Amino acid sequence: MRFVIFVIFLLGVALAAPSSIDPGYNCKPGQKCWPSLQEWQHLNHTIDGHLYQTIPLGAPCYENSTYYDAAVCSVVENDYNNSIPRGGYYGQTYWPNWEACGTSGCSLLSSNPEVTLYSTCSLGRLATYYVDVRNTSHISAALQFAKVHNIRISVKNTGHDFFGRSTVPNSLAIWTHNLKSLDFHQTFTAHNCPSANAQNVGEMGAGVIAGDAYRFFNSHGVDITGGYEESVGIAGGFGQGGGVGDYTTTYGLMVDNAVEFEVVTAEGQVRTINECNDPELFWAMRGGGGGTYAILTKYRVQVYPSVPVHTYNFLATFKDTTNATQQQGLREVLTAHANNQIIWSSQLVTGQVDYSTKGVSFGLVLPYADDGSRLKRATASFFQTVSNLTYVNVLENNYTSFPTYTDYLAFSAIDARATKPPGIFSLLASRLMPRHLFNASETVDSLVSAVIEGMEKARRLLPLQRTGAQVVLETPLSTPDNNQKTSALPAWREAMWHVIHVGEWYEPLAPAALQKATDGFLEMLEPLKKLSPGGGAYFNEAHYGEPDWEQTFFGANYNRLLDIKNKYDPTHIFDCYKCVGWRGEQE
Ligand SMILES: Cc1cc2nc3c(=O)[nH]c(=O)nc-3n(C[C@H](O)[C@H](O)[C@H](O)COP(=O)(O)OP(=O)(O)OC[C@H]3O[C@@H](n4cnc5c(N)ncnc54)[C@H](O)[C@@H]3O)c2cc1C
Ligand SMILES: *[C@@H]1O[C@H](CO)[C@@H](O)[C@H](O)[C@H]1NC(C)=O
Ligand SMILES: *[C@@H]1O[C@H](CO)[C@@H](O)[C@H](O)[C@H]1NC(C)=O
Ligand SMILES: *[C@@H]1O[C@H](CO)[C@@H](O)[C@H](O)[C@H]1NC(C)=O
Ligand SMILES: *[C@@H]1O[C@H](CO)[C@@H](O)[C@H](O)[C@H]1NC(C)=O
Ligand SMILES: *[C@@H]1O[C@H](CO)[C@@H](O)[C@H](O)[C@H]1NC(C)=O
Ligand SMILES: *[C@@H]1O[C@H](CO)[C@@H](O)[C@H](O)[C@H]1NC(C)=O
Ligand SMILES: *[C@@H]1O[C@H](CO)[C@@H](O)[C@H](O)[C@H]1NC(C)=O
Ligand SMILES: *[C@@H]1O[C@H](CO)[C@@H](O)[C@H](O)[C@H]1NC(C)=O
Repeated sequence: MRFVIFVIFLLGVALAAPSSIDPGYNCKPGQKCWPSLQEWQHLNHTIDGHLYQTIPLGAPCYENSTYYDAAVCSVVENDYNNSIPRGGYYGQTYWPNWEACGTSGCSLLSSNPEVTLYSTCSLGRLATYYVDVRNTSHISAALQFAKVHNIRISVKNTGHDFFGRSTVPNSLAIWTHNLKSLDFHQTFTAHNCPSANAQNVGEMGAGVIAGDAYRFFNSHGVDITGGYEESVGIAGGFGQGGGVGDYTTTYGLMVDNAVEFEVVTAEGQVRTINECNDPELFWAMRGGGGGTYAILTKYRVQVYPSVPVHTYNFLATFKDTTNATQQQGLREVLTAHANNQIIWSSQLVTGQVDYSTKGVSFGLVLPYADDGSRLKRATASFFQTVSNLTYVNVLENNYTSFPTYTDYLAFSAIDARATKPPGIFSLLASRLMPRHLFNASETVDSLVSAVIEGMEKARRLLPLQRTGAQVVLETPLSTPDNNQKTSALPAWREAMWHVIHVGEWYEPLAPAALQKATDGFLEMLEPLKKLSPGGGAYFNEAHYGEPDWEQTFFGANYNRLLDIKNKYDPTHIFDCYKCVGWRGEQE
């Protein structure tokens, strides 16, 4: 069947545009087409010795692995559930779902890394070889090599992707993690583009992680529109697929603030792109997803004079924990939250709220140049409401002000390390919930019921594991992007809640249990989808089984993005799961 399609394709297209044939990029180790050792060594030589064979992070701890080494293993165990040192290894993903291939992998138990999770260590879904990129010439050479040998390319920064898009089995990986340059331009002159000249522009290599960016720019008296957890890459999937964080309500998405990129195109050319040069490619990479159009090497972004960060933490447990649908406490707090959301959004209050069937944790944030009174005013009536509820035990109700984002980070990173450690398995299901739902009490009730219904289902699908709903308030309502300067999903501009159902577990599930949970998490979204027809979900934090992914992740931008993809990457050397132009499942 595939052969027939290929022949038809050749007849139809080959003569007209021979350079745009998709050769499949499907050569695998062991096949005749796979390069010889000498050929790999030659590649290694042309890229200054930066080619490596992948060693899974956990391999030194597997006794019958050829990489077994007790001393190295103890270093690995120490780094295993700490996202910053862990990110320094190519052979891992944040979520071990994507290290494993079916029932084989090489992960360790995150909560106690002395325990191995599989009987033997296998490479799983990790790339066969990777290039530890230090400059653009290494990327061009790797692309050229992959074309000559018909090998899949994968692009990895941190490996945080929730769909495992940065790991592709049998591929040659381009690993951007060590492109760590940081620079700040008080007065920035764009490349051949006077309209893009600006004050206060930050510049980052593709491998810079969020924590390093916050601290560096803060030391120059400015803030960057990053995310929450310190180890997320800021210029890769995050900065090309949207990018939401504590500044989103104030300054918009990360992509709204993009000024200029340096990229290596599918042809291996280095280009500086902005609204004047390759404007279509620039537009596509401002929201249309990572791993799709070109490889980004530098990200230049608008930054803003630093302001203090004010937080409000509210922690409570529910008194009746027998059944989520009967839980008055959960329903009442969710309703109070929804009823206050219009005010919070208008005051640019942001943050995240974690609901479980046992309790709730509000982490509200407002970066603002005052003493914290604006956040207190905006949240006072919420506290009055929830503190009087019959089924709610208030454990914490706490306002704190941090002079800078860096001070705030020192505190929030500790929390993130405890609540979102790397090395645990994860499944998400999410939806952006539009603002009109918050206008009337009937639609608020439906929204609250839809969230609770999903939570109850998650608890049944993953008994004894960590499940819950996260309501993210980081939406760009205040930055409508009227001139469509970005390709971010239009539904973002109407969203008041980014609702994420989260399921997390520590050890591989049996295939049938995993399938059941995966299917169930997709079904769980139905009530939220019914309330938001024509809406969508965040490409970077969604369910990987989403069937209607083109519409859900890209909305009305899909066709234009596809044209740009086909223009800049006609042979599909960048193929990325449920990204624009994805070729579909390959064997
Ligand atoms: C703990 C945690 C916290 C998170 N918090 C937030 C948050 O606060 N806000 C938010 O918006 N998202 C958040 N995310 C989601 C995050 O945006 C995605 O996981 C995103 O894919 C991470 O990008 P990355 O480059 O670090 O990851 P990777 O997995 O390395 O890459 C993701 C995708 O981008 C591509 N890519 C990477 N680098 C490049 C490059 N240089 N050029 C072209 N393509 C590239 C990859 O091929 C892949 O398709 C979080 C994720 C985790 C795990
Ligand atoms: C590439 O060269 C470097 C430096 O000589 C070496 O450390 C590395 O192992 C080589 N990679 C491969 C795949 O042989
Ligand atoms: C991380 O691993 C250490 C042991 O190395 C363990 O003590 C700790 O509890 C783990 N942290 C989490 C969040 O599981
Ligand atoms: C490797 O060791 C494990 C036990 O630690 C054993 O179950 C497995 O069969 C061994 N595999 C091989 C290939 O020897
Ligand atoms: C790339 O980096 C290597 C060192 O890793 C250096 O020798 C080479 O000259 C650099 N090439 C370019 C084009 O900057
Ligand atoms: C929770 O209560 C609802 C309504 O009474 C019921 O339909 C559902 O099965 C219950 N769930 C559990 C897990 O008991
Ligand atoms: C709730 O309790 C507070 C005291 O904590 C009180 O001042 C307020 O009037 C009460 N509000 C309502 C609506 O009952
Ligand atoms: C309030 O929050 C700060 C940090 O935000 C923390 O250090 C402090 O312990 C908290 N106080 C209470 C009473 O919970
Ligand atoms: C919702 O209310 C706002 C004002 O609060 C109004 O501008 C908007 O039109 C309303 N939307 C709907 C769909 O009712």
